[in-house]
Amino acid sequence: MGNNYAVIGLQWGDEGKGKIVDLLSEKIKLTVRYQGGHNAGHTVIIGDKKIVLHLIPSGIIHSDTKCIIGNGVVVDPYAFLKEIKELNKFGIKTEGRLYLSKDAHMILPFHSKIDAIIEEEIRGDQKIGTTKRGIGPSYEDKAGRRGIKLSSLYNPEYLKRELEYLVNIKNLFLKGIGKEPLKSNKIYEELMEIREELLKYISDTFPIIQDAKEKGETILFEGAQGVLLDIDYGTYPYVSSSHPTVGGIFTGSGIGPDANIKVIGIVKAYTTRVGKGPFPTEATGKDEKTMREKGKEYGATTGRPRRCGWLDLFALKYSVKLNGVNSIVLTKIDILDSFEKIKVCTGYKYKGKTLKNFPTESWILEEVEPIYDEVEGWKDVTSGITEYNKLPQKAQNYIKYIENYLKVPVSIISTGPDRKETIIVKEF
Ligand code: GDP
Ligand code: IMO
Ligand code: MG
Repeated sequence: MGNNYAVIGLQWGDEGKGKIVDLLSEKIKLTVRYQGGHNAGHTVIIGDKKIVLHLIPSGIIHSDTKCIIGNGVVVDPYAFLKEIKELNKFGIKTEGRLYLSKDAHMILPFHSKIDAIIEEEIRGDQKIGTTKRGIGPSYEDKAGRRGIKLSSLYNPEYLKRELEYLVNIKNLFLKGIGKEPLKSNKIYEELMEIREELLKYISDTFPIIQDAKEKGETILFEGAQGVLLDIDYGTYPYVSSSHPTVGGIFTGSGIGPDANIKVIGIVKAYTTRVGKGPFPTEATGKDEKTMREKGKEYGATTGRPRRCGWLDLFALKYSVKLNGVNSIVLTKIDILDSFEKIKVCTGYKYKGKTLKNFPTESWILEEVEPIYDEVEGWKDVTSGITEYNKLPQKAQNYIKYIENYLKVPVSIISTGPDRKETIIVKEF
């Protein structure tokens, strides 16, 4: 049996997963998303074309690759159809090669409304800074056993009944805060209008994955978000509501650990975070500004400016261990080209003591003092370089520093947003 791969962001998302999945998909038969929803924004740049994928796996750009949206994903059917339209406009065919798991739960229009109400009107200054795409509220309903699976579109009577039950529960909340109650009939009828279109994509994806596995066809699992946004292992409550970590693959797509999945951890050469929550190595002033402007660090989904800071190796070590990472793809090294000195965080101090383990408690993370080492900047151009030995020596030193600390090899280095701007250090 051949190897399968997982591409997982090891920080707070936006590490460059989209670019790397696109790059690797050339040789991949099947790409699978296993968690999250259209809160993700995965950018692929090919020459002068820019494609941002939210819900659909980035493998879709290669016409020979099949794509699955797994049961662990929450699917806004309207956002799904919109994304399909956009891809079709780019000349990318979707029918017959994109499969939506019948067991995935829906994000319905009221989920995004409730997401926004909780953020704006209830949490107030304790905001999570969500994307307001309804991700949390939809996963809540799934765990509460009142969610609506895509498979309910097979049986309109069942859908109608379940929707009524769910809407009754939502109305208790909405009425309680003085909002207009929802009408389940209206939601039902609107869904029925797009039902036929959705049914073209809804499938039993379990046998598709299992067949690929049995035939030894390589499968690539595309993580969304990042390890530190995982609902269990991330910086709760400032997290998303899914499992971007490796375990999410097993529950979110329908495959077991015998699939021999090699874990590729995507690491940005510095750190970014969108939304609220602790960020121990957050930079300030000129440094943060350079990272944001040069790195074009604005959310691919919401357009919000991303917070920027130094590479946090202490947090990364946690992510590496947690996911059994086999190799690292280091992205956006070119953004550090102009820095005289580059800081790297190698540990945290809390109340005067050096911590042994990464703390997930947000109140501890808010207070830790990062222990920094300083690496000399290369002050030279790495943008667009495609061979390792053409990198400035000091840039190579930075990469070696990361490998030595994490004890995981860096197998790909990304030196620009385009597919071509890549150094393959070691073929997988
Ligand atoms: P994802 O969510 O992990 O797929 O990452 P995003 O697409 O949200 O953000 C990464 C951004 O960096 C995108 O705009 C990419 O086009 C861009 N990018 C990816 N790799 C590189 C790189 O090596 N250098 C530069 N300059 N940009 C990159
Ligand atoms: P990709 O796949 C970066 C963040 C939000 C917020 C928190 C919860 O492009 O890396 P949610 O809407 O999920 O309930 O918001 O998670 N977040 C992301 N940050 N990249 C993402 O996806 C993200 N998806 C969610 O900003 O802090
Ligand atoms: Mg993104």
